[in-house]
Amino acid sequence: MKALFLVGGMGTRLRPLTNKIPKPMIPIMGKPLLERSILNLKSVGIKEVVLSTCYRAQYIQRYFENGEKLGMKIYHVKEDIPLGTGGAIKNAEEYFDDTFLIFNSDILSDIDLKEFIKYHREKGADVTIAVTQVDDPSMYGVIEYDENDYAISFKEKPQPHEVTSNFINAGAYIFEPKVLEEIPAGRVVSVEKEVFPQLIEKGYKIAVYKGCSYWIDIGTPERYLQAHMDIMSGKYRINGLNFSGKGIYKGPGCDIHSSVKIYEPVYIGANVKIEENASIGANAIIGDNVRIGRGVKIMRSIIWNDVVVENGATLIDTIVASNCRIKQGCDYYSTVYVGEDSCPMAI
Ligand code: GDD
Ligand code: MG
Repeated sequence: MKALFLVGGMGTRLRPLTNKIPKPMIPIMGKPLLERSILNLKSVGIKEVVLSTCYRAQYIQRYFENGEKLGMKIYHVKEDIPLGTGGAIKNAEEYFDDTFLIFNSDILSDIDLKEFIKYHREKGADVTIAVTQVDDPSMYGVIEYDENDYAISFKEKPQPHEVTSNFINAGAYIFEPKVLEEIPAGRVVSVEKEVFPQLIEKGYKIAVYKGCSYWIDIGTPERYLQAHMDIMSGKYRINGLNFSGKGIYKGPGCDIHSSVKIYEPVYIGANVKIEENASIGANAIIGDNVRIGRGVKIMRSIIWNDVVVENGATLIDTIVASNCRIKQGCDYYSTVYVGEDSCPMAI
C-alpha cells in the first residue's frame, strides 16, 4: 500500500518558525516530523510514499530526495500554486490505483495503522477517516456520524454555536482510488469542505475510525511545545526515546561541566557544550551543536540545532530556532525566537 502526505501548506500559524522551513520539517525531538511519520509507515511495511509539496517544496525535495537514505521510495509531486487539500490529492492521482493512505503532515498520533486499514476493509468503506475527540473543535473539522460509524456531516472550523460533535477529523484517511474520479482537476479544492460532503451526498460510504488515543496537531507554537511536553511526560512515545516524566537523554560528544544542574526529564542532542552553573530542565529539549554559557537557565523550552545561549540568559516556555544567538543576560518567557532580524513572538 502507498501513502500520500499533504505537505504543501504555508504553516502560517507556526510563523515565524515556518519562515524558513516548511511545517512538516519542524523537528520533533531533534528529527523532522515528516521523517518520523515516514519511518512509522516503514515500520508497518509501507515502502512507497508520495509527498504533495508546494510551500518550500525544494527544502523537502532536497532532504528526502528519492527516499533511498530511509530505505523507501519517495516521489515528489509539486504544485506551482497551492491546490488545497483536495486539489493536492487529485494532483497525485497517477500514483494511486489501489487502496491508499493520506495524511496531513502536522499530526503526531499513536494511530495503529494496521488496525486502521483492517477497519476500513471491514466497514467496506470508500473512505475511512480517523477521528479524535477534542475539547474545542472550532479549530478543526467536525464530523457527525451515525450509529454504525459512517459519517453523515462535516463542518470545517465551525463557529462555537455550530459545533454539533466533539469528534474531529484527525487528518488521516484511507481512500479507494475510485474516489479520485469525484475530485475536480485543475483548480483549488478542499477535501474537507467540498469533497467529503459531496461524497456523502452521492452515496459513498465514509467510515469513521476512533482508534487514536494520543493525537495532536502541532500547527501552533503552543501545541508544538505541548507535543514535546507530552513526549517528556511519557504520554506519547517516540521510537528510541523513553521518557516518563523522568529520564535524561544525552547524545554523543557532549561536554557538560560538573557544576551544571540537570532536572529531569531532559533531552540533549549531540556535541552540546554546557558551561559552569547552568541549570537545564525540567523539560528542556536541546538540539545538536548547541553552546550553553555559564549560569544559563533553560526550562520547558525547545532549542533547535547550532544555537548559542550566552552567559546568564534565561529561557522558559520558549522555542529557539536553529543558528540563533541568545545574547548575554537576555531572558525570554513564552517566546518564539528565530533571530535578530525577526521580532521575538509571544506564545
Ligand atoms: N500540497 C498541498 N497543497 N498541501 C496542503 C495545501 C495545499 O494547497 N493546503 C494544506 N496542505 C497540507 C498542510 O501542509 C497540512 O499537512 C494539511 O494539508 C492540512 O492543512 P492544515 O493547514 O494543517 O489544516 P488544519 O490543521 O487547519 O485543518 C486540517 O487538519 C485538521 C486536523 O489537524 C483539516 O483536515 C481539519 O478537518 C482537521 O480537523
Ligand atoms: Mg493542521
